[in-house]
Amino acid sequence: MLPSHPLLTKIQNRTARVVVIGAGYVGLPLLVELARAGYSATGYDKDPEKVSLLNKGQSYIGDIPTEVLAPLVESGHLRASSDPDVLRAADAVIVCVPTPLNKTKEPDMRFIVSAAGEIAKAQHKDMLVVLESTTYPGTTREVLIPKLTSGFELGKDIFIAFSPERVDPGNVKWGIKNTPKVIGGATPACSEIALALYGSIIDTVVPVSSTDAAEMVKLLENTFRAVNIGLVNEIALMSRKLGIDVWEVIDAAASKPFGFMKFQPGPGLGGHCIPIDPLYLSWRMRTLKYEARFIELADAINSNMPREVVVLVQEALNKRRKAANGSRVLVVGVAYKRDVSDFRESPAFDVISGLEHLGAHVDYLDPHVPELQEGELTLKSVPLDVAYGEYDAVVIVTDHRAIDYTRLLREAKLVVDTRDALRHIEGDRAKVVRL
Ligand SMILES: NC(=O)c1ccc[n+]([C@@H]2O[C@H](COP(=O)([O-])OP(=O)(O)OC[C@H]3O[C@@H](n4cnc5c(N)ncnc54)[C@H](O)[C@@H]3O)[C@@H](O)[C@H]2O)c1
Repeated sequence: MLPSHPLLTKIQNRTARVVVIGAGYVGLPLLVELARAGYSATGYDKDPEKVSLLNKGQSYIGDIPTEVLAPLVESGHLRASSDPDVLRAADAVIVCVPTPLNKTKEPDMRFIVSAAGEIAKAQHKDMLVVLESTTYPGTTREVLIPKLTSGFELGKDIFIAFSPERVDPGNVKWGIKNTPKVIGGATPACSEIALALYGSIIDTVVPVSSTDAAEMVKLLENTFRAVNIGLVNEIALMSRKLGIDVWEVIDAAASKPFGFMKFQPGPGLGGHCIPIDPLYLSWRMRTLKYEARFIELADAINSNMPREVVVLVQEALNKRRKAANGSRVLVVGVAYKRDVSDFRESPAFDVISGLEHLGAHVDYLDPHVPELQEGELTLKSVPLDVAYGEYDAVVIVTDHRAIDYTRLLREAKLVVDTRDALRHIEGDRAKVVRL
């Protein structure tokens, strides 16, 4: 369709200069893949600490080893900057900024709007701009395109697309390169250029017909997870009331080779995606006077799980004639999932504050999170060789592999296990309470 477009030629011969706005959990792995493919890749980030570390070749993201990053920085393929001027020389700009919720659980679009404003100031002819941040359907069309098309013709001298990120922190099997990437351009020419760029660094690209469709793909994926986790959490609560072991039920159901997909209950959702993204969709639907019922219900069930955990601890202590008030509790694992250091939106915060609200003295142990800071809460992890027996209860919130569960079970007086982490550990089961 665009056989001789100069941007396509630059992509084909890897002379395209690519700037990624936001060198975080999503942006950094992408920068690495671009640099590996031979592009000149620049991370533009407002955080001077990330920029400084990156330029020294030091990684700050668990999935990207410094040994992988450093040679790319040394060879000059990868660099970082806090200066928006780097955007002026860019042939392609990929936006990977945060999309959080505000206090009333509504989309906080500040970062996308500010990135779009910076691109507009540096914009020139023959530029590709791709948004990767998860957002509500219509964002690229309504927020990005109007800012980038004054004096530029869409699909002719400015190319815009949306391509949802599918980073799964801690996943050693599926990384950027082998995870298929969905791409929706604002026009066929926009799609073609975006597909060419991503097709040069990712094994499989999946075109969809529009930026709205690509935005909706991501929300379907994450809503699917949030709803199924909500369902299995409710099955866990119901099983408990019925005196049934939910973990046994799930395992047996998972023996069905078709029509069932295994999800596990837990202390609640965490991370930057699953607890947040579906609410972008339900917010969008509210503006159209439509209530996204599955999303709201799953959010209500999942958000309540930390409270269920607190009640479980309280009841278990009570059975041992011990009040939560004044008791010592150790929370094991505060990252939102196994073997990662990311504690954004972690249910551990609500578990800790819920227990403290009851008067318990709470410590935490997390080898991946030496210090925990959110709002007024600042805590330091106890060491890995902590004496579990000094606590009235140990609550497993995240089942990191670095924990010695055999010793934990041997020493602890009482364990509330929200992840079934002790399933295969031999010892005194009478002191274990599961979700
Ligand atoms: N973390 C994940 O596992 C994951 C997975 C899939 C999708 N996503 C989505 O990807 C997006 C990015 O998430 P993340 O986890 O990488 O966030 P992050 O906080 O790790 O990184 C974002 C970076 O953007 C920088 N930044 C913000 N505004 C900027 C601006 N105007 N100019 C320059 N830099 C700016 C911040 O300093 C930060 O370093 C979000 O929309 C998120 O929902 C995240």
